[in-house]
Amino acid sequence: MWFTIILLQLLPHFTLSVHCPGGCVCDIRGFVKCTGDITAVPPLDPTTTFLLLLNDTQIQLLQERSFQPFHLLLRLRITHSSLDTIHPEAFYDAPQLRSIKLSSNALSVFPPKVFGELSNLEQLQLDDNQIVSISSGLFEGLLNLTELDISNNHISQLDADVFQSLTKLIFLYLAGNRLRNLPGNVFHNLSQLESLVLTSNQLETLESGLFDHLNNLLVLMLQKNQICEIPPHIFWHMPALHTLSMSGNKLQYIPPRSFYYLPNLTKLTLYKNPLISLPDQLVGHMPRLQELYLYETNLVTVPWNLFANMTGLKWLHLHLNDNLTSLPKDLFCCLPKLNKLSIKHNNLLELHPDIFSSLPSLQILLLNENKLRTLPEQIFRHTPRLQTLDLKNNHLRYLTGDVFIHAGALKVLSLSGNRWNCNCSIMGIAEWIQENPTIVNDLEKGVVCREPYKLLDRPLQSLTYEDLQCGPTTYMTSTSVATKVTSSPPTLTITRKDTGTTGTAPVSTSILPFTSTSAVTSLFSPTAEESYIIKKIGYNNQPGFYNTIVLDSGPDIVHNNHYNGWVYLWTVPSTGLFSGFMVALYIVLLVVGVVIIAASLCALYRLHKVMWTLGEVAIEGHYQRITTKSYKF
Ligand SMILES: *[C@@H]1O[C@H](CO)[C@@H](O)[C@H](O)[C@H]1NC(C)=O
Ligand SMILES: *[C@@H]1O[C@H](CO)[C@@H](O)[C@H](O)[C@H]1NC(C)=O
Ligand SMILES: *[C@@H]1O[C@H](CO)[C@@H](O)[C@H](O)[C@H]1NC(C)=O
Ligand SMILES: *[C@@H]1O[C@H](CO)[C@@H](O)[C@H](O)[C@H]1NC(C)=O
Ligand SMILES: *[C@@H]1O[C@H](CO)[C@@H](O)[C@H](O)[C@H]1NC(C)=O
Ligand SMILES: *[C@@H]1O[C@H](CO)[C@@H](O)[C@H](O)[C@H]1NC(C)=O
Ligand SMILES: *[C@@H]1O[C@H](CO)[C@@H](O)[C@H](O)[C@H]1NC(C)=O
Repeated sequence: MWFTIILLQLLPHFTLSVHCPGGCVCDIRGFVKCTGDITAVPPLDPTTTFLLLLNDTQIQLLQERSFQPFHLLLRLRITHSSLDTIHPEAFYDAPQLRSIKLSSNALSVFPPKVFGELSNLEQLQLDDNQIVSISSGLFEGLLNLTELDISNNHISQLDADVFQSLTKLIFLYLAGNRLRNLPGNVFHNLSQLESLVLTSNQLETLESGLFDHLNNLLVLMLQKNQICEIPPHIFWHMPALHTLSMSGNKLQYIPPRSFYYLPNLTKLTLYKNPLISLPDQLVGHMPRLQELYLYETNLVTVPWNLFANMTGLKWLHLHLNDNLTSLPKDLFCCLPKLNKLSIKHNNLLELHPDIFSSLPSLQILLLNENKLRTLPEQIFRHTPRLQTLDLKNNHLRYLTGDVFIHAGALKVLSLSGNRWNCNCSIMGIAEWIQENPTIVNDLEKGVVCREPYKLLDRPLQSLTYEDLQCGPTTYMTSTSVATKVTSSPPTLTITRKDTGTTGTAPVSTSILPFTSTSAVTSLFSPTAEESYIIKKIGYNNQPGFYNTIVLDSGPDIVHNNHYNGWVYLWTVPSTGLFSGFMVALYIVLLVVGVVIIAASLCALYRLHKVMWTLGEVAIEGHYQRITTKSYKF
């Protein structure tokens, strides 16, 4: 290459009068391009030709010593021609050749040692021919070869020593052949190899030790084969590896620790394999890995620590896994840089509330085309940068209105194609949609009720409490005494009194251990502890908490509190955990009261008796004294 350039620099400019045969274009730098009806290498000026391109010609045969006259020729290309025969001595007397490209011809066999004299050859491209086999000595002597391309041929096997002398090889392209297996030591002398492409062959297994001496390998492409099994540790001796592609194979299992000792790996693809399970320890420390593709597998679940060593991951594609029904709660535990997470088109039924709790950089989350029925209220608590969220085509029947309260950066949300159950509980999310119509990007595709029948296909954003007939509740805005109010339709328009409470309230809804919607509709009975919490928030001057309310038909005094745009109703418990205790306490108090009353009655009676006796004695004594005194008188 450099040699060429230097030669070009040195090229005297007085060679303008080049002799250029018909069908060719000759340029003063020594480039000759020929095309058309030529059947042999044309008679060119040997003193000026450095680069010869014969494209789309009729050349079928390369004669003995075809290039002998061109002692300056460095690069030869005969492409898109009908070349099918090469004389065993075709390249004799042209040892200066650096590059030979014979792509897209009809070559099927080569005489042994046809390239044997070309010790300066650096690049040999024989791709897109009909080569069936390669004799073991064909590349012998190509000591300076750095690139060999024999892809897109019909090669079904390789001899163990075929690449033995190519110790300077950097690129080896074997894609698009019919290789079924490879001898275990076929690459062992290729210690300089950086790129090995075996894509689109028919490899079924890999011999153990196959890649053992490829210390400098950066790219290994094995995709689109039939590999159903890999030996343990097969990738352990490629410390520099940068890209490893295993997609489109038949792997059902991968041996434990297969991807250890690959510290520089930045791209790993495993998609389109019928993987059934993955081992608990699969991936070693690979902080540079940025993208992972793991889709179209048969995985039912994945080990919780699968991504634990991929701390630099930015994009994770874990989708189109038909059998994937659940994800471990810590699966995304250690991915501080993850920006895009696609878990769409799986079969997920539910998600753990903490599953996204360690993804501070997450911006795009694709959950569409699953079978999610709802989402936990807290699920987006720790994803402050979330901008795009796709929830369409799930089985969502219900979402709490607070679910996006912490997703302050949310810009695009898809909710269509779900199965919304429009009972009273739906109002939370319905009102959220009413308040954020620009965020939901698929309202026109139908974010509509599936149930009940009378509300079928009603858009959620048009629902009102009247539509839902949420029970004869009403409330008044008086902040003090509980009074009875007659029923008017429950216009619980849950006006966010102070929008500042959304998102910023330090006491997050997480400490309210009940869902607001069920509190609105069913008479909620908080435990003593819960009412304490509610009161405490009230005393803290949270603007959301005030109001008292009386249920028209209910027997009990009901309190109501506004918080985060929700109305919480609560009464003294009549059922639930503490009601038994309360009743017991009540009975104990009653009994104690009766006993105390009885005891005091009894005591009073006895006191009275004593007093009576004492009184008699005293009167008697008085008379006695009087009579005694009268005696004395
Ligand atoms: C060579 O010929 C083929 C077929 O005619 C054509 O597609 C291709 O572009 C040509 N290449 C060059 C470099 O001229
Ligand atoms: C390989 O190329 C170098 C220059 O790049 C040259 O010095 C050396 O002789 C060549 N090796 C052989 C075996 O020809
Ligand atoms: C290539 O490998 C063979 C054994 O496969 C070995 O005998 C030979 O010395 C190696 N050649 C070089 C140049 O490393
Ligand atoms: C990994 O990559 C870095 C920088 O690209 C390089 O310095 C280092 O030598 C590589 N490690 C290995 C084992 O090749
Ligand atoms: C992560 O990598 C380290 C070092 O390679 C290894 O010891 C550990 O077992 C790996 N963790 C998992 C879950 O594979
Ligand atoms: C995965 O699902 C397909 C049908 O979708 C089923 O035929 C196959 O048996 C399942 N595989 C496993 C491992 O469950
Ligand atoms: C409303 O529907 C959802 C989902 O079907 C259900 O979980 C919830 O309990 C229902 N609420 C009421 C008040 O019926």
